[in-house]
Amino acid sequence: MKHLPLFGNHEYTLGILGGGQLGKMLCQAASNWDIKTAVMDKARDFPAAHLCHRFVVGDFSRYEDVYAFGKSVDLLTIEIENINIEALERLESEGVAVHPSPKTLRIVRDKVKQKEFYQEHGLPVTTFRTFENAAEVKRAVDDGSLSLPFVQKSRSEGYDGRGVLIVRTDEDIKNLIDEPCLAEKLVDIAVEIAVIAARNHHGEIRTFPPVAMHFHPEANLVEYLYAPAGLGPAIEQEAIQLAQATIEAFDMTGLLAVEMFLTEDGNILLNEVAPRPHNSGHHTIESCSVSQFSQHILAISGMPLIRPELLSPAVMTNLLGAEDYSGPVQYEGIDQCLQKGNVHIHLYGKKETRPFRKMGHVTVLDRHLPRAIEKAKFVQEHLIVRT
Ligand SMILES: Nc1ncnc2c1ncn2[C@@H]1O[C@H](COP(=O)(O)OP(=O)(O)O)[C@@H](O)[C@H]1O
Ligand SMILES: [Mg+2]
Repeated sequence: MKHLPLFGNHEYTLGILGGGQLGKMLCQAASNWDIKTAVMDKARDFPAAHLCHRFVVGDFSRYEDVYAFGKSVDLLTIEIENINIEALERLESEGVAVHPSPKTLRIVRDKVKQKEFYQEHGLPVTTFRTFENAAEVKRAVDDGSLSLPFVQKSRSEGYDGRGVLIVRTDEDIKNLIDEPCLAEKLVDIAVEIAVIAARNHHGEIRTFPPVAMHFHPEANLVEYLYAPAGLGPAIEQEAIQLAQATIEAFDMTGLLAVEMFLTEDGNILLNEVAPRPHNSGHHTIESCSVSQFSQHILAISGMPLIRPELLSPAVMTNLLGAEDYSGPVQYEGIDQCLQKGNVHIHLYGKKETRPFRKMGHVTVLDRHLPRAIEKAKFVQEHLIVRT
């Protein structure tokens, strides 16, 4: 890989495919180093549009759009997985630096290929079976070869809980996802953990401290995230080592968010990864010695990485659109929340709210984690996203 002197040098451009909140926060981080950015996404009112040097209206699932955009930048990264891969492969073959690599993206965006990859590399995952559609899954249940409870996951295009169905009862069978999918064992989860790792092309790896994630029961989205995870040094070390082994296995340049399950019987299983900045690292903006966004840019531009240290306990909570509202967004209760002190509010700038849409997040810092949790709960009750 070419070493690109991006810092304070407007001869080179960092290109970001996707202009949502992750693209926006990447632009914010790039701005601290005076790195020139270009972003492509569907419309000029997307969160990242007003923070980049050049915004291109385009569809990242279209070959022509991705190829033309990639040709216009010097280093290309993504904020979302479902980018047109053929275009990324051609760009890479023509010498454009693309991170994460199209090879990694091909594996990651198909949940079956992803899990097969972990099995090949001896990384711990749940057992699973592959199916073409709902009828095939149902037949397996009927002939007794697949027993309840299990978790059905769509092979691709799943995100934020879409494409995941927990099947406990015969009633649930009626709602099976009718797509190519996998079915895996329902794990007795004690807690869900995430570790974000970064690696540059010199092979240097740095990991962020593990976090514990608590999910919103209906939305299947992270509701509260705790840092530190508070699982004890042995388990946290094991989680860090698993994240390191995973990023090594992918031979990645960039950031890899590794989602894991700590089971009730004390084992750690790999759930899935995201080769980019991730919701489970938003708190690092305020709580760590380096943010996940800055670390990603360091990693992909071939710079030395910063050793992430947690400077303060933190709780992150997502601001989701209230259940009964769809339309132009309005926020209520911001001043009340700020009065609590050390409450860091991020509004992504999406114009329209919808039930459970990710509209922003809030990070609360406090020397005492329980107090941070209390404040985050206050934020969830009082900061309302409605129309
Ligand atoms: N095998 C499993 N056992 C128990 N719960 C699971 C299992 N797989 C997924 N889940 C739950 O569903 C959530 C979403 O699944 P995940 O595979 O991470 O899909 P997504 O792409 O939506 O994040 C997980 O964070 C976890 O809470
Ligand atoms: Mg997930």
